[in-house]
Amino acid sequence: MSRSAPVVPATAVVRAVVRAVPRAAALLAFVLTLSACAGCDAAKSGATGLRDPYFPKMGNGGYDVTHYGLTLDYDPDGNHLRGTAVITARATQDLDAFDLDLKGLHVKSVTVEGTKARWDRAGQELTVHPKGDLDKGETFRTTVRYSGSPGTITDPDGSEEGWLRTGDGALALGEPTGSMAWYPGNHHPSDKATYDLAVTVPEGLQAVSNGELKNESTRKGHTTFAWHTAEPMASYVTTLAIGTYRTEASTTDGGLPVYVAVDPSQAKPSRKVLAKIPEVMTWAEETFGPYPFSSTGAIVDRPDDAEYALETQNRPVFPGAPDTETLVHELAHQWYGNSVTPRTWRDMWLNEGFATYAEWLWQEEHGGETAQEIFDALYDGDYYQDRTDDEDIWSFPPGKPSGAAHISDSPVYERGAMVLHKIRQKVGDDTFRELLRGWATAHRHANADTDEFTAYVEKLAPDEDFDGIWDEWLYGEGKPAKP
Ligand code: TRP
Ligand code: ZN
Repeated sequence: MSRSAPVVPATAVVRAVVRAVPRAAALLAFVLTLSACAGCDAAKSGATGLRDPYFPKMGNGGYDVTHYGLTLDYDPDGNHLRGTAVITARATQDLDAFDLDLKGLHVKSVTVEGTKARWDRAGQELTVHPKGDLDKGETFRTTVRYSGSPGTITDPDGSEEGWLRTGDGALALGEPTGSMAWYPGNHHPSDKATYDLAVTVPEGLQAVSNGELKNESTRKGHTTFAWHTAEPMASYVTTLAIGTYRTEASTTDGGLPVYVAVDPSQAKPSRKVLAKIPEVMTWAEETFGPYPFSSTGAIVDRPDDAEYALETQNRPVFPGAPDTETLVHELAHQWYGNSVTPRTWRDMWLNEGFATYAEWLWQEEHGGETAQEIFDALYDGDYYQDRTDDEDIWSFPPGKPSGAAHISDSPVYERGAMVLHKIRQKVGDDTFRELLRGWATAHRHANADTDEFTAYVEKLAPDEDFDGIWDEWLYGEGKPAKP
């Protein structure tokens, strides 16, 4: 794997240029819109971003994707990807133009409803101008043919995502913005869709993705793997792992298909933990309610292949064998994150607070520390043994991360879990269990934000006053006073 360490000043310059180009383009577009539209109806272009408070350019306005049909061909030797994306969407306004997000790669053609469309690009925005206008409510299909070498995206926090080259192939990770590195789309968690992904790779390699494997066929030295995801999926939890894997298909006692793909070098160290998947799933269903998807599993790559685990839908990705808590964390995200998906990246603590709390509950119920003990250790500052960041947890409130570079910091994870523990203390164990299941059920396969969460809790326990928890633990700056 080749990974060059970023040089800070050069990166800063590149970032400034990258930022300046779309800004200039946006200004120009604005001026043109003004002059073209003097005296005419409101502009019919879909917005170029969804104004997410942390990633404002991600996603696009004016339509809602229902299905992605991706046909890809990848050559790992040259890191060359050829793709056709067929995007089915419904217009939510009249449209004479709309955007897709796509970073890098070369666009060869775009059609809308089978008719060639004009397009232009500025930064990550691929603007499509269909031949005829699209009417509000209309369902339309856009086909984008593209190719090139997909790239890695460096997050504001310095971590890497997008298209990662691995020892034996590639690994696509998408949180928060990486999926635009390998296919065009409406890359924001608020627009979930179903997927079909057919990937062709040189014979001998495998391609593992979300959902269920529907077909595998080899012709002339190339193998095509066809994956189908029937439930809505946010693009940041789509994945594609290409390389040599030992794969195993089985089912849980309850009949749920389990598909695991493990890099051969990780087979031995991960055997025991992966054998726990059925047990973790049974525990999770008892605790969080019915599993929202039609298969489960895991992808284990080499430790160097990625910097973190990710809850990719159905099948989380782990760089090396995970410990049991990490497996529990990523499987809990299937309920909290993948089924109940944040409305914007500000609501990230709804993902990470719940997934972290799932680890605490698992430990509590399996002979480890109780959630109360973990909460106390965090509060008292003797939780982190090998890190010096006991104080980092108080650096900002979970409900309002202090910038895009901080959405994966410990206030979002551990302090987010502490918010849930404060609620548990107030309502008691029985009502808290109702909350875990009820919240997952109320927004199943949908989106939710923090206001909806606090309203949900208040309705669940109408006699309690939660203002102190919201004010101090969820939104308050600094360390809350000892209760
Ligand atoms: N959300 C992932 C998890 O909890 C971890 C993760 C994704 C992450 N991207 C990151 C952690 C960037 C740090 C930095 O499993
Ligand atoms: Zn997580």
